[in-house]
Amino acid sequence: MPKKIIVGSICNRDLDIFDEIKRFSKINYGIKFVNLLKNGSSFSVKYFKKKLKKYQISFLIVKLYSEETNQKIYDALNSYAANIPRLNSLRSVKTCESRKESFKLVEQKCKKLKIPQSFYSINTAYEAVSKGIPLIIKLDTHNIRNLSKYDRIIGVARNPDDLLNLIRHYDIQNNCLFFQEYLGKYENVYKVYIIDRYVQTITSQNLIQQRKRSSKKLVHIRVPIDKEFKRQILRTGRKFGMSIFGVDYVLKDGIPYIVDINDFPSFSNIPESVSMISEYIYRFCLARLSLTKIPMRMKVKTYNS
Ligand SMILES: Nc1ncnc2c1ncn2[C@@H]1O[C@H](COP(=O)(O)OP(=O)(O)OP(=O)(O)O)[C@@H](O)[C@H]1O
Ligand SMILES: [Mg+2]
Repeated sequence: MPKKIIVGSICNRDLDIFDEIKRFSKINYGIKFVNLLKNGSSFSVKYFKKKLKKYQISFLIVKLYSEETNQKIYDALNSYAANIPRLNSLRSVKTCESRKESFKLVEQKCKKLKIPQSFYSINTAYEAVSKGIPLIIKLDTHNIRNLSKYDRIIGVARNPDDLLNLIRHYDIQNNCLFFQEYLGKYENVYKVYIIDRYVQTITSQNLIQQRKRSSKKLVHIRVPIDKEFKRQILRTGRKFGMSIFGVDYVLKDGIPYIVDINDFPSFSNIPESVSMISEYIYRFCLARLSLTKIPMRMKVKTYNS
């Protein structure tokens, strides 16, 4: 009989679904979750070290709002828990905090994946829009606490004046904006959710079409995914070091263009995600505890910091 599985969590985002995962994992697999945040919400190195000493943690889940103070968490994990596998690598969690860093990594490592042309400075964005490339402007920081979905996208610039006008209230020196070729207005956006090798896609209403909040209920419909595209998405997960993640894409002329990458998304319209994520954690920890061979693909993903 293997030892009890203990999972450490450092999570402050989408806590509803996380609570469901904890409950499901406890009832069905007897997994114990230890919250490594002090009082459930703040990080203290001393408290973290104490918990590491007290519990033999087999697996770590890090799912955070994008905040500067996260660096303290990453440093502590690297210093004191480097050998504990993570659901998503720390590098991927950190990369996904910044839209720029995420797209740079895709450009470098996932060349077959199509993304809109991305611009990493105001100067290159200005040049592009001057040449007639329309740009969507987004905040670079991805998961901002207490910021509504509607305020993360600054707007669409179709000429240099639009661009200057839209960014005039932002601290440009601080590099807080991300510019990307605007592919046009699409009724639907597609959201792909990945749990290990399970891939599920739904359509969702395009938010930036509706700056005014609609009271209509969103309708989500599952759609099939092209085999090669699915392969490329799974490959992207491996390159980032993520087992559980999501990508958003729009279809332009029948070609999927990735517009967003999320480590551990909310899975809000994928009810089976709770049981599937729990099972993934269980299988991973069981393989590790009973010293059976961990498949190489799992190792590669979760051991690279
Ligand atoms: N380059 C683009 N061209 C056209 N439309 C885009 C582009 N980038 C984003 N969009 C549209 O804007 C929406 C929001 O963009 P994005 O996913 O990057 O932001 P978000 O803050 O993660 O929002 P959400 O939580 O809705 O995913 C997308 O779902 C898509 O419909
Ligand atoms: Mg998105």
